[in-house]
Amino acid sequence: MKDTTDHIVDPSYDYESKPWHEHGDERPSNFSPNPTFYDVCEQRFSRRRLMQGGLAAAVTSVYGLSFASNAFARDLPADLIGFEPIMTSEADSIEVPPGYRAQVICRSGEPISGDMPAYRRDNTAAEQEHQIGQHHDGIHFFPVDGSSEDGYLVMNHEYIEPRYLHGAFEGRALGSGEVVYLPEETTVQAETDPPAEMQELLSAPGSAAMVGDGQAEVDVAEVEEAIEEALTQHRDRDQVLKELYAHGVSIVRVRKGESGEWSIVEDPLNRRIHGMTEMEIGGPVRGHDLVKTRFSPNGTRTRGTLNNCAHGVTPWNTYLAAEENWAGYFTNTDTLDQKPDQPREHARYGVASNGTGRYGWNLARGGEDEFVRFDASIRGADATEDYRNEPNNFGWVVEIDPFDPESVPVKRTHLGRYAHEGVVFGPVEAGKPIVAYAGDDARFEYIYKFVSAATYDPETTDGSILDEGTLYAAKFNDDGTGEWLALRPGENGITDFADMGELLVNTRAAADQAGATKMDRPEWGAVDPNTGEVYFTLTNNTRRIQSQVDMANPRANNQFGHIIKWRERTEDHTGTEFDWDLFVIAGGPDTSADLKGNPLDETSIFAAPDGLWIDPDSRVWIQTDIGESAQNVGDFEQFGNNQMLCANPVTGEIRRFLTGPIGQEITGVITTPDQRTMFINVQHPGATTTAEDYAAGRHLSHWPDGGDAWPRSATVVITKEDGGVIGT
Ligand code: FEO
Ligand code: CA
Ligand code: CA
Repeated sequence: MKDTTDHIVDPSYDYESKPWHEHGDERPSNFSPNPTFYDVCEQRFSRRRLMQGGLAAAVTSVYGLSFASNAFARDLPADLIGFEPIMTSEADSIEVPPGYRAQVICRSGEPISGDMPAYRRDNTAAEQEHQIGQHHDGIHFFPVDGSSEDGYLVMNHEYIEPRYLHGAFEGRALGSGEVVYLPEETTVQAETDPPAEMQELLSAPGSAAMVGDGQAEVDVAEVEEAIEEALTQHRDRDQVLKELYAHGVSIVRVRKGESGEWSIVEDPLNRRIHGMTEMEIGGPVRGHDLVKTRFSPNGTRTRGTLNNCAHGVTPWNTYLAAEENWAGYFTNTDTLDQKPDQPREHARYGVASNGTGRYGWNLARGGEDEFVRFDASIRGADATEDYRNEPNNFGWVVEIDPFDPESVPVKRTHLGRYAHEGVVFGPVEAGKPIVAYAGDDARFEYIYKFVSAATYDPETTDGSILDEGTLYAAKFNDDGTGEWLALRPGENGITDFADMGELLVNTRAAADQAGATKMDRPEWGAVDPNTGEVYFTLTNNTRRIQSQVDMANPRANNQFGHIIKWRERTEDHTGTEFDWDLFVIAGGPDTSADLKGNPLDETSIFAAPDGLWIDPDSRVWIQTDIGESAQNVGDFEQFGNNQMLCANPVTGEIRRFLTGPIGQEITGVITTPDQRTMFINVQHPGATTTAEDYAAGRHLSHWPDGGDAWPRSATVVITKEDGGVIGT
């Protein structure tokens, strides 16, 4: 399978020349103009007119007015968005508006702990364990004593680009994501992996979508032969360990110096949490049969967090790392009657069936327990003798206390198991339940909400409040109303689960049964702190066909994505009804519409909205992630490199604020409490470099260090020359 987002083989995909795995982004498969776009806009504004006339009057909202009548028309300051928008860019640089400055810190490989090992291309695994990871994503600034000049940056490292992690890979023809295998009992390195014929046969895991119609018949003997061949290869043990350490989360103190520059500070709280860190399993899944393994026969502990995309910050000041495209790291080669035979908790998520998974970690030379666990095939007499359940320990939200270096991270299972993009909390009030929203970033997957059973107490509440409550999936009705469908055994048509633990391990299947609305890849969510409105980016979905269009996902072949927003009917966000609308339909001048129905222009066009944050003044910050194979080609050429924009939530006006270097995505955004320093992350610069160019040393990006440096993910610190609030 080429990507992890919908688990369907793409027959048009060029398996030979493209990376085996493109980090979960959808590869655009249809560049034809979308004939339904104007129909979509017409429908949308017809619905709005309908609501203004009739339905709106019937909508009772705590704000006293309906959504469609723009109840939140408020007086936002004239300089809410005061900067001059910038144009799109294809340069290998960070561009910001006049009057703004950008500084780079926290590059991949910079030391933060231990004996502070300096960055080198050939750093060992042991050194990487004390260095910033690769592929920065969600980020938060935890101030020290409320300071805006001293605090801890906590950030996710979503995945890795092995060719820019290992000095030993230099000069090989490697695409983005490819690793080097060692043939059995030799030290000569193979050029590619896995064998091409095996990729074709086995690249698709046996997902639910695959097993039914449309799955090509495969020759079982050939498949078995290909798996056999894969298993004769090995990975270098130290390289695999370094890759595990380059994933996860970094906690690092940073401080503003007298010159205004920020830098890393050595600190006892600095630490790395990664693919090997021991963790507790919390919530209803703790101790469940489905998470018992050889490592934890009682199903209470596991090792590592992987593919941490966006994040969350709890009202009690801890950090949440979401596990997104984790399924492909595992392989399960079990077959029955000559067909892949994975349990639904693997198949519905896209666990690989190719014998190697994404990076071949199960094949690390030496065969130690921490590596073979990535092979979830049945090997032992029962689940406590093998790793058939190891994938079930992933797909969760992990709670980390950055202020206690001895604390053990906890997987909070009541938030559900899926391709968790991130988590965002609703408004918090003492004596009321905690409410959290999260999206499942895969094509045709769902948006969820968790409501705690206990109520919030600022003095005593901790992460255990997330262990008991109700998980809901969202249903968006075409009339602009919506419902939250409770996911509990025996309710809402959910019949297939013996207990809550089994349901949570199979969250997607439960939401299927409840009839939730299939969305166009839900990415980040954000809550407007001044109105309680909830926004979610829906990044794209070119697989949606006209007969699958609905009002919340209104575009067939949705290449460019959109942003949806809703308002809960209850002020405390705990109710089961809401009212929704589209905030913006992304695209070029001919394919976009803002909140007022006007097209975006050269100062505001964008595609593939992903990162999202609403600052304390209600500025809506939008970040983009056009996949590397689409950047600056075809219909995507007009958007330039990935970028960040700023929107006014009342007028819908959008202005481009920042453009990033070549091949990257912009992701993760937070400011200091005084809003005068902003931190954003640049992930995977140079990912558009082809295998041939990599082999020849022609790296398309040298950001941030220039010259002939390898590209490195890093954090960018943005300030205003006049010391003002970012965005003004
Ligand atoms: Fe990791 Fe859905 O972006
Ligand atoms: Ca993302
Ligand atoms: Ca994305």
